[in-house]
Amino acid sequence: MFEDKVVVVTGAASGIGRRTAIEFARQGATVVVADVDGTNGPEVVAKLNSDGHRAVFVRADLTAEADCEHLVAVAAERTGRVDVLVNNVGIEISTPIHEMSVPEWDRLFDTNLKSMFLCSKHALRPMMAARSGAIVNVCSVSGLVAWPGIAAYNTTKGGVLMLTKSLAVEYAKHGIRANCVCPSIIDTPMTDASIGHDAAVKEAKAKLNPLGRLGTPEDVAHAILFLASDKSSFITGAALTVDGGYTAI
Ligand SMILES: NC(=O)c1ccc[n+]([C@@H]2O[C@H](COP(=O)([O-])OP(=O)(O)OC[C@H]3O[C@@H](n4cnc5c(N)ncnc54)[C@H](O)[C@@H]3O)[C@@H](O)[C@H]2O)c1
Repeated sequence: MFEDKVVVVTGAASGIGRRTAIEFARQGATVVVADVDGTNGPEVVAKLNSDGHRAVFVRADLTAEADCEHLVAVAAERTGRVDVLVNNVGIEISTPIHEMSVPEWDRLFDTNLKSMFLCSKHALRPMMAARSGAIVNVCSVSGLVAWPGIAAYNTTKGGVLMLTKSLAVEYAKHGIRANCVCPSIIDTPMTDASIGHDAAVKEAKAKLNPLGRLGTPEDVAHAILFLASDKSSFITGAALTVDGGYTAI
Protein backbone atom coordinates (compact mmCIF):
# COMPACT_ATOMS: atom_id res chain seq x y z
CA MET A 1 0.00 0.00 0.00
CA PHE A 2 2.96 2.35 0.58
CA GLU A 3 5.31 1.22 -2.20
CA ASP A 4 7.63 4.11 -3.20
CA LYS A 5 6.46 6.22 -0.26
CA VAL A 6 8.81 7.88 2.23
CA VAL A 7 7.40 7.69 5.75
CA VAL A 8 8.86 9.37 8.84
CA VAL A 9 7.86 7.94 12.22
CA THR A 10 9.03 9.81 15.33
CA GLY A 11 9.61 8.03 18.64
CA ALA A 12 9.91 4.80 16.65
CA ALA A 13 12.40 2.97 18.88
CA SER A 14 9.65 1.75 21.20
CA GLY A 15 5.96 1.02 21.67
CA ILE A 16 3.42 2.47 19.23
CA GLY A 17 6.03 4.17 17.02
CA ARG A 18 8.09 1.00 16.69
CA ARG A 19 5.08 -1.07 15.65
CA THR A 20 3.96 1.66 13.24
CA ALA A 21 7.38 1.73 11.57
CA ILE A 22 7.25 -2.07 11.16
CA GLU A 23 3.74 -2.00 9.64
CA PHE A 24 4.67 0.75 7.15
CA ALA A 25 7.82 -1.15 6.13
CA ARG A 26 5.78 -4.32 5.59
CA GLN A 27 3.50 -2.31 3.29
CA GLY A 28 6.49 -1.31 1.13
CA ALA A 29 7.40 2.11 2.52
CA THR A 30 10.91 3.42 3.02
CA VAL A 31 10.70 4.18 6.73
CA VAL A 32 12.73 6.79 8.55
CA VAL A 33 12.91 5.80 12.20
CA ALA A 34 13.58 8.86 14.36
CA ASP A 35 14.33 8.63 18.04
CA VAL A 36 16.64 9.93 20.73
CA ASP A 37 17.30 6.29 21.72
CA GLY A 38 20.53 5.36 19.96
CA THR A 39 20.30 1.68 20.97
CA ASN A 40 16.76 0.48 20.28
CA GLY A 41 16.26 2.72 17.22
CA PRO A 42 19.13 1.21 15.22
CA GLU A 43 17.96 -2.26 16.33
CA VAL A 44 14.49 -1.70 14.82
CA VAL A 45 16.11 -0.53 11.57
CA ALA A 46 18.62 -3.41 11.44
CA LYS A 47 15.80 -5.96 11.88
CA LEU A 48 13.67 -4.30 9.17
CA ASN A 49 16.56 -4.21 6.70
CA SER A 50 17.57 -7.81 7.44
CA ASP A 51 13.95 -8.83 6.73
CA GLY A 52 14.24 -7.24 3.28
CA HIS A 53 12.50 -3.94 4.05
CA ARG A 54 13.87 -0.42 3.65
CA ALA A 55 14.57 1.63 6.77
CA VAL A 56 17.02 4.22 8.05
CA PHE A 57 17.64 5.47 11.57
CA VAL A 58 18.06 9.13 12.42
CA ARG A 59 19.10 9.89 15.98
CA ALA A 60 17.23 13.02 16.94
CA ASP A 61 16.09 14.92 19.99
CA LEU A 62 12.80 16.11 18.54
CA THR A 63 12.50 18.97 20.98
CA ALA A 64 15.35 20.66 19.06
CA GLU A 65 14.56 22.41 15.78
CA ALA A 66 17.94 21.61 14.20
CA ASP A 67 17.34 17.87 14.77
CA CYS A 68 13.83 18.05 13.26
CA GLU A 69 15.16 19.94 10.23
CA HIS A 70 17.97 17.39 9.80
CA LEU A 71 15.47 14.51 10.09
CA VAL A 72 13.34 15.88 7.27
CA ALA A 73 16.42 16.58 5.15
CA VAL A 74 17.57 12.96 5.51
CA ALA A 75 14.06 11.69 4.69
CA ALA A 76 13.82 13.88 1.58
CA GLU A 77 17.43 13.20 0.49
CA ARG A 78 16.78 10.60 -2.20
CA THR A 79 13.38 11.49 -3.68
CA GLY A 80 12.85 15.07 -2.48
CA ARG A 81 9.59 13.85 -0.93
CA VAL A 82 8.23 13.16 2.51
CA ASP A 83 4.92 11.42 1.84
CA VAL A 84 3.87 10.68 5.41
CA LEU A 85 4.85 12.15 8.77
CA VAL A 86 3.75 10.31 11.90
CA ASN A 87 4.25 12.60 14.89
CA ASN A 88 4.25 9.95 17.58
CA VAL A 89 6.86 11.06 20.08
CA GLY A 90 5.55 11.66 23.58
CA ILE A 91 6.23 11.25 27.29
CA GLU A 92 4.05 11.15 30.38
CA ILE A 93 4.75 13.06 33.58
CA SER A 94 2.11 12.56 36.24
CA THR A 95 3.08 15.24 38.76
CA PRO A 96 -0.07 17.08 39.94
CA ILE A 97 -0.33 20.70 38.78
CA HIS A 98 0.12 22.14 42.30
CA GLU A 99 3.46 20.31 42.62
CA MET A 100 4.71 20.52 39.04
CA SER A 101 7.89 22.50 38.39
CA VAL A 102 8.26 24.78 35.39
CA PRO A 103 11.06 22.58 33.91
CA GLU A 104 8.73 19.53 34.13
CA TRP A 105 5.90 21.45 32.43
CA ASP A 106 8.30 22.68 29.72
CA ARG A 107 9.73 19.20 29.12
CA LEU A 108 6.25 17.77 28.68
CA PHE A 109 5.15 20.50 26.27
CA ASP A 110 8.46 20.48 24.37
CA THR A 111 8.29 16.71 23.85
CA ASN A 112 4.56 16.22 23.26
CA LEU A 113 3.64 19.38 21.37
CA LYS A 114 6.65 21.43 20.24
CA SER A 115 8.17 18.33 18.58
CA MET A 116 4.99 17.96 16.49
CA PHE A 117 5.06 21.65 15.50
CA LEU A 118 8.74 21.43 14.53
CA CYS A 119 8.54 18.18 12.54
CA SER A 120 5.36 19.39 10.80
CA LYS A 121 6.94 22.78 10.03
CA HIS A 122 9.86 21.16 8.20
CA ALA A 123 7.92 18.30 6.57
CA LEU A 124 5.27 20.69 5.22
CA ARG A 125 7.81 22.29 2.89
CA PRO A 126 8.50 19.18 0.74
CA MET A 127 4.82 18.18 1.05
CA MET A 128 3.72 21.59 -0.29
CA ALA A 129 6.22 21.31 -3.14
CA ALA A 130 4.79 17.87 -4.02
CA ARG A 131 1.21 19.10 -3.47
CA SER A 132 0.54 16.01 -1.41
CA GLY A 133 1.21 14.56 2.00
CA ALA A 134 -0.38 13.05 5.09
CA ILE A 135 0.38 13.95 8.69
CA VAL A 136 -0.84 11.66 11.46
CA ASN A 137 -0.40 12.87 15.02
CA VAL A 138 -0.56 10.53 17.99
CA CYS A 139 -2.91 12.27 20.41
CA SER A 140 -4.76 10.40 23.20
CA VAL A 141 -8.23 10.03 24.62
CA SER A 142 -6.84 12.40 27.22
CA GLY A 143 -6.91 15.09 24.53
CA LEU A 144 -10.68 14.59 24.41
CA VAL A 145 -11.56 13.94 28.06
CA ALA A 146 -9.51 14.84 31.13
CA TRP A 147 -7.91 11.84 32.83
CA PRO A 148 -7.45 12.40 36.56
CA GLY A 149 -3.85 12.70 37.79
CA ILE A 150 -2.19 13.74 34.53
CA ALA A 151 -3.53 17.25 34.00
CA ALA A 152 -0.46 18.65 32.24
CA TYR A 153 -0.23 15.61 29.92
CA ASN A 154 -3.95 16.01 29.10
CA THR A 155 -3.28 19.64 28.24
CA THR A 156 -0.48 18.76 25.81
CA LYS A 157 -2.80 16.30 24.06
CA GLY A 158 -5.55 18.92 23.83
CA GLY A 159 -2.93 20.99 22.00
CA VAL A 160 -2.12 18.08 19.68
CA LEU A 161 -5.81 17.81 18.77
CA MET A 162 -6.04 21.51 17.88
CA LEU A 163 -2.70 21.46 16.02
CA THR A 164 -4.11 18.60 13.94
CA LYS A 165 -7.33 20.44 13.08
CA SER A 166 -5.42 23.64 12.31
CA LEU A 167 -2.98 21.85 10.00
CA ALA A 168 -5.93 20.19 8.25
CA VAL A 169 -7.73 23.46 7.67
CA GLU A 170 -4.68 25.49 6.61
CA TYR A 171 -2.94 22.98 4.35
CA ALA A 172 -5.88 21.26 2.59
CA LYS A 173 -5.38 23.70 -0.30
CA HIS A 174 -1.87 22.28 -0.72
CA GLY A 175 -3.16 18.71 -1.00
CA ILE A 176 -2.04 17.86 2.53
CA ARG A 177 -4.22 16.02 5.06
CA ALA A 178 -3.74 15.97 8.84
CA ASN A 179 -5.47 13.64 11.27
CA CYS A 180 -4.84 12.21 14.70
CA VAL A 181 -5.40 8.98 16.55
CA CYS A 182 -6.62 9.01 20.15
CA PRO A 183 -5.62 5.81 21.93
CA SER A 184 -6.70 4.86 25.45
CA ILE A 185 -4.33 2.70 27.50
CA ILE A 186 -2.02 0.78 25.19
CA ASP A 187 0.32 -1.98 26.37
CA THR A 188 3.71 -0.28 25.80
CA PRO A 189 6.83 0.53 27.83
CA MET A 190 5.26 3.95 28.62
CA THR A 191 2.30 2.19 30.23
CA ASP A 192 4.60 -0.19 32.12
CA ALA A 193 6.47 2.84 33.48
CA SER A 194 3.20 4.47 34.49
CA ILE A 195 1.11 1.59 35.96
CA GLY A 196 3.76 -1.12 36.46
CA HIS A 197 3.76 -4.79 35.41
CA ASP A 198 1.16 -6.04 37.90
CA ALA A 199 -1.35 -8.18 35.96
CA ALA A 200 -4.19 -7.32 38.36
CA VAL A 201 -3.65 -3.59 37.84
CA LYS A 202 -3.55 -4.07 34.06
CA GLU A 203 -6.77 -6.11 34.21
CA ALA A 204 -8.50 -3.38 36.20
CA LYS A 205 -7.39 -0.79 33.62
CA ALA A 206 -8.57 -3.08 30.81
CA LYS A 207 -12.05 -3.20 32.33
CA LEU A 208 -12.37 0.59 32.00
CA ASN A 209 -13.44 0.17 28.36
CA PRO A 210 -16.38 -1.85 26.96
CA LEU A 211 -14.15 -4.21 24.96
CA GLY A 212 -12.44 -5.11 28.23
CA ARG A 213 -8.80 -5.30 27.15
CA LEU A 214 -5.81 -3.00 26.86
CA GLY A 215 -4.98 -1.80 23.37
CA THR A 216 -1.93 -3.12 21.54
CA PRO A 217 0.59 -1.12 19.54
CA GLU A 218 -0.76 -2.95 16.45
CA ASP A 219 -4.27 -1.60 17.14
CA VAL A 220 -2.92 1.95 16.96
CA ALA A 221 -0.54 1.28 14.05
CA HIS A 222 -3.41 -0.03 11.90
CA ALA A 223 -5.42 3.14 12.53
CA ILE A 224 -2.38 5.29 11.68
CA LEU A 225 -1.76 3.42 8.42
CA PHE A 226 -5.41 3.90 7.44
CA LEU A 227 -5.22 7.67 8.07
CA ALA A 228 -1.95 7.88 6.12
CA SER A 229 -3.29 5.91 3.16
CA ASP A 230 -5.33 6.88 0.11
CA LYS A 231 -8.22 4.89 1.61
CA SER A 232 -8.82 7.92 3.85
CA SER A 233 -8.40 10.51 1.08
CA PHE A 234 -11.59 12.44 2.09
CA ILE A 235 -10.73 12.45 5.79
CA THR A 236 -8.86 15.39 7.28
CA GLY A 237 -8.98 17.13 10.67
CA ALA A 238 -10.35 13.95 12.25
CA ALA A 239 -9.60 12.43 15.66
CA LEU A 240 -9.96 8.65 15.44
CA THR A 241 -10.41 7.02 18.84
CA VAL A 242 -8.61 3.69 19.32
CA ASP A 243 -9.97 3.06 22.79
CA GLY A 244 -12.13 -0.06 23.02
CA GLY A 245 -15.15 2.24 23.35
CA TYR A 246 -13.79 4.11 26.39
CA THR A 247 -15.02 7.52 25.21
CA ALA A 248 -18.36 6.13 23.98
CA ILE A 249 -19.58 5.53 27.53
N1 LIG B 1 0.90 3.97 25.88
C1 LIG B 1 -0.30 4.51 26.02
O1 LIG B 1 -1.14 4.04 26.80
C2 LIG B 1 -0.67 5.73 25.20
C3 LIG B 1 -2.01 6.13 25.20
C4 LIG B 1 -2.38 7.26 24.46
C5 LIG B 1 -1.42 7.96 23.74
N2 LIG B 1 -0.11 7.54 23.78
C6 LIG B 1 0.85 8.32 23.02
O2 LIG B 1 1.49 7.46 22.09
C7 LIG B 1 2.80 7.96 21.81
C8 LIG B 1 3.81 6.83 21.95
O3 LIG B 1 3.71 6.30 23.25
P1 LIG B 1 4.32 4.87 23.67
O4 LIG B 1 3.45 4.34 24.72
O5 LIG B 1 4.62 4.09 22.46
O6 LIG B 1 5.68 5.39 24.37
P2 LIG B 1 7.14 4.73 24.52
O7 LIG B 1 7.69 5.33 25.76
O8 LIG B 1 7.05 3.24 24.41
O9 LIG B 1 7.91 5.30 23.23
C9 LIG B 1 8.18 6.67 23.09
C10 LIG B 1 9.44 6.84 22.27
O10 LIG B 1 9.68 8.25 22.14
C11 LIG B 1 11.08 8.46 22.28
N3 LIG B 1 11.36 9.84 22.72
C12 LIG B 1 11.02 10.43 23.89
N4 LIG B 1 11.45 11.70 23.92
C13 LIG B 1 12.06 11.94 22.72
C14 LIG B 1 12.70 13.07 22.14
N5 LIG B 1 12.79 14.24 22.79
N6 LIG B 1 13.20 12.95 20.89
C15 LIG B 1 13.12 11.78 20.21
N7 LIG B 1 12.53 10.68 20.72
C16 LIG B 1 12.00 10.75 21.96
C17 LIG B 1 11.53 7.44 23.31
O11 LIG B 1 12.94 7.21 23.23
C18 LIG B 1 10.70 6.22 22.90
O12 LIG B 1 11.38 5.43 21.95
C19 LIG B 1 3.02 9.14 22.76
O13 LIG B 1 2.74 10.35 22.09
C20 LIG B 1 1.98 8.89 23.84
O14 LIG B 1 1.61 10.08 24.50
C21 LIG B 1 0.28 6.45 24.49
